[in-house]
Amino acid sequence: MGFVIAVDGPAASGKGTIATRLAALYGYPVLDSGLLYRAVGVRLLAEGGDLSDMDHATRVAKTLDPATLENPEVRTRAAGEAASRVAAYTPVREALRAFQRTFATQEPGVVIDGRDIGTVIAPQADAKLFVTASPEVRATRRWKQLTGQGEQVTYEDILADIRIRDERDSARSDSPMVIADDAVLLDTTEMDIDRAFDAARRIVETARGQKA
Ligand code: DC
Repeated sequence: MGFVIAVDGPAASGKGTIATRLAALYGYPVLDSGLLYRAVGVRLLAEGGDLSDMDHATRVAKTLDPATLENPEVRTRAAGEAASRVAAYTPVREALRAFQRTFATQEPGVVIDGRDIGTVIAPQADAKLFVTASPEVRATRRWKQLTGQGEQVTYEDILADIRIRDERDSARSDSPMVIADDAVLLDTTEMDIDRAFDAARRIVETARGQKA
């Protein structure tokens, strides 16, 4: 097992950008685990399925083609909402677990971002960050991203989405979004992405020093 960096946190906290930059810094592969749930939601809907149909979602998760993570459709607002719904189903989570755990075994290390990486997928991770920010700041960031992609959405709608998603992701019984006991909390509310990345890098450097 290489050096595993787990970056958990709620939607639009900056965790994805931090994870990508850490991976570039150390030359590690990065997995955005949210894309797996997004891809399941997108395919379920494309097959005419219903988000309340756990069996259909499970069949999709069991046969997920990792190539579909590249589909731009998985980055839409609707995909995020669908992901949060299918992510509450235990058999869906189980079907996606092996892929994530195998990814985590790569040498010399990996970065994985999500909700349950430091708690369930890789509890043995060498560095664990929990990245957060106020709902308002996260809504502003997500709104800029989505309108930049050409989606017609209001800030108020995005803020409402974020609150619903936080509640659903934290309240589900299987692998809820919680801060691991040994994770370092990084609140990026008052930080731009460069400062947030710098703070994350220092947390990881400390963990690397402890492992060396
Ligand atoms: O990180 P994201 O916003 O792309 O994730 C989309 C949804 O997927 C999120 O609302 C909850 C779910 N998810 C999860 O349950 N576990 C993960 N490790 C990653 C995402």
